[in-house]
Amino acid sequence: MKLAAWFLAFAATLASHCAYAQASAQAPIVIKFSHVVASDTPKGKAAERFKQLAEKATGGRVRIDVYPNNQLYKDKEELEALQLGAVQMLAPSLAKFGPLGVREFEVFDLPYIFPTKEVLYRVTEGPVGQRLLKKLETKGITGLAFWDNGFKVMSSNKPLRTPADFKGLKMRIQPSKVLDAQMRALGASPQALSFNEVYQALQSGVVDGTENPPSNFYTQRMHELQRHLTVSNHGYLGYAVIVNKKFWDGLPSGIRSALEGAMKEATKYANAIAQKENEEAMEAIRKSGKTTIYVLSDREREEWRRAMLSVHKEMEPRIGKDLLAEVYHEAAIYAAR
Ligand code: LMR
Repeated sequence: MKLAAWFLAFAATLASHCAYAQASAQAPIVIKFSHVVASDTPKGKAAERFKQLAEKATGGRVRIDVYPNNQLYKDKEELEALQLGAVQMLAPSLAKFGPLGVREFEVFDLPYIFPTKEVLYRVTEGPVGQRLLKKLETKGITGLAFWDNGFKVMSSNKPLRTPADFKGLKMRIQPSKVLDAQMRALGASPQALSFNEVYQALQSGVVDGTENPPSNFYTQRMHELQRHLTVSNHGYLGYAVIVNKKFWDGLPSGIRSALEGAMKEATKYANAIAQKENEEAMEAIRKSGKTTIYVLSDREREEWRRAMLSVHKEMEPRIGKDLLAEVYHEAAIYAAR
């Protein structure tokens, strides 16, 4: 009798251990991927594509939960949340790494540094891009890829045709010292604000104008508040897809390489759709009839470029002379062809 009771207790313990082991074997690894823009933007769509590819490639052993539109964290909080492990994956704009202490990323913010997307890709897909991503490791972050968005437009409630038109305007920027210098070079007063604050800041007059690629401008309904938009393509906005390093290194290697494969595919997709997404957004802004669009002529663009050129020299000590030279070199190779 005693033996039977012992046997039953032993069998029950064994069964519960097996059930637990089975449940944990089946429980997927969850990756929370947080970002601040709308789902129907280049970044939003690429995040969804990564989810599909990653879940398929891992046979469902990994689940990607995408949180768009600041749902989980806003600009200022998301990098901290990643470092603490509260989320596993982010894709902040390259202009948001300065406050983390990785200033070199601000090279991407320099006005008119990339004459074409081709030059940009030579940087992001080449050794310079790889080295930049590696810099994040000391911050407990692994950089996986660069995702494209596009060249920025400028907007305000008055026409912006010459650099003199910026005088005295309060312009929203991302928290980048290069963008701060850029707006000052134009005679404007830069105001660093989180992305989620921009709409209200434009509405209440905290700022007079802003800059962003058309996809962000349209999906955040900024065209409802800004009467004039200038296609200046004066600067670039793109993303670094990043993960918590400890989490990433702790993944089973088969899972990690499947996720790397999915990221490669998602990156191709992101870079393939960005331009079209921005063109469509621009068309939608035009159709809304709320914002007058002005495209700078070559002569006017040259005037803008000259007005902002001093920013390169001013920011050289912050970004690093060698890095700057490497990026110029890629542009020169392109120009010489
Ligand atoms: C911004 O803050 O304007 C952008 O970086 C938002 C984004 O992630 O595209």
